[in-house]
Amino acid sequence: MCSFRPCWTCCCLLLFFSLEVQGSPKPPSAAPEQVHLSYPGEPGSMTVTWTTWVPVPSEVQYGLQPSGPLPFQARGTFSPFVDGGILRRKLYIHRVTLRGLLPGVQYVYRCGSAQGWSRRFRFRALKKGPHWSPRLAVFGDLGADNPRALPRLRRDTQQGMYDAVLHVGDFAYNLDQDNGRVGDRFMKLIEPVAASLPYMTCPGNHEERYNFSNYKARFSMPGNTEGLWYSWDLGPAHIISFSTEVYFFLHYGRHLVERQFHWLESDLQKANENRAVRPWIITMGHRPMYCSNADLDDCTWHESKVRKGLRGKFYGLEDLFYKYGVDLQLWAHEHSYERLWPIYNYQVLNGSQEMPYTHPRGPVHIITGSAGCEELLTPFTLFPRPWSALRVKEYGYTRLHILNGTHVHIQQVSDDQDGKIVDNIWVVRPLLGRMMYL
Ligand SMILES: [Fe+2]
Repeated sequence: MCSFRPCWTCCCLLLFFSLEVQGSPKPPSAAPEQVHLSYPGEPGSMTVTWTTWVPVPSEVQYGLQPSGPLPFQARGTFSPFVDGGILRRKLYIHRVTLRGLLPGVQYVYRCGSAQGWSRRFRFRALKKGPHWSPRLAVFGDLGADNPRALPRLRRDTQQGMYDAVLHVGDFAYNLDQDNGRVGDRFMKLIEPVAASLPYMTCPGNHEERYNFSNYKARFSMPGNTEGLWYSWDLGPAHIISFSTEVYFFLHYGRHLVERQFHWLESDLQKANENRAVRPWIITMGHRPMYCSNADLDDCTWHESKVRKGLRGKFYGLEDLFYKYGVDLQLWAHEHSYERLWPIYNYQVLNGSQEMPYTHPRGPVHIITGSAGCEELLTPFTLFPRPWSALRVKEYGYTRLHILNGTHVHIQQVSDDQDGKIVDNIWVVRPLLGRMMYL
């Protein structure tokens, strides 16, 4: 029989020995970590975000020369973030926006303060206006464990293959896990990519804990919705990021569904007024409207919530996106890659039999959630659906090249096949003419 006293003694001894082994805890650090970039939506600007463990000033020093002094300085602000876990760990999140950057020019920078500086990173300022050809890496569902796509994404980034990254929800698994420590590890892991390219995000279901607070605090997206929904222009495209999660976590506020929907409608109206300048309208949201995976996720239901809205009739997104002629819809959540034929309400609307993606009569959906995480890959149903064009159950990510106002190139990279391109299509929209499908 075990009495209370020996157990208590054992605990004390264990604690004593573990402290002996580990030594005393390190003092909190003023050195920047988890450095990443984002584009705040204002031409010629870039925001640098990082973390420290003590409150210190927020400064970025930058310049054009790879070595030597960094002649420019920008200051910003920091805000404390307390994770919702039992330890209530406190991070200081620093944000500094650089302005007046020369389009397409490479900059070198470091961030921090006199109490500690980061190493030097490089980034290229985004070009201005609609007449250039942005290249993007697109994926969702990247975890701190099993992040299969990351080594190749790092290599691609070092080779200057992209102008920005779109991470379509589900980070780290999870940002809040282990009192936010998994989030810290993940943000360090993506630093070689995210400190060199604007890393643009939308929330996924894995960010849900404590009302998405880790997601909202750790990233700095355009607008004033803490990254839940926003839009930005990139070359010939208008890119809209939104939260599918407002449809599922209603306890954080049913009003968010309505607010986001009205914002989406007014943003789509403006995007259409500007369509002669930026012809492509691209959306990114985490949970797809359609998918042919063998699970019970929302997208496997005929009347999915994202597609048809709450109770099958309120604030559904398919009608809205179809009405305003969204060209391309990027999704994740399913840990696989799936390309659909142009579709509206289960009707395949190919441009023609021979060239389905040339002048498609409905939006093109890409589901790209196979970047790698501890939950492994998601299987597909045995037989594909008639609206499913290609399914790939391999780790990988998507390359999106917005060549000009009429041509977009989409490729799927397989990490299981050492970088082999396993999907390769062009989407072509008419130069003038159609604004909306209706
Ligand atoms: Fe997800």
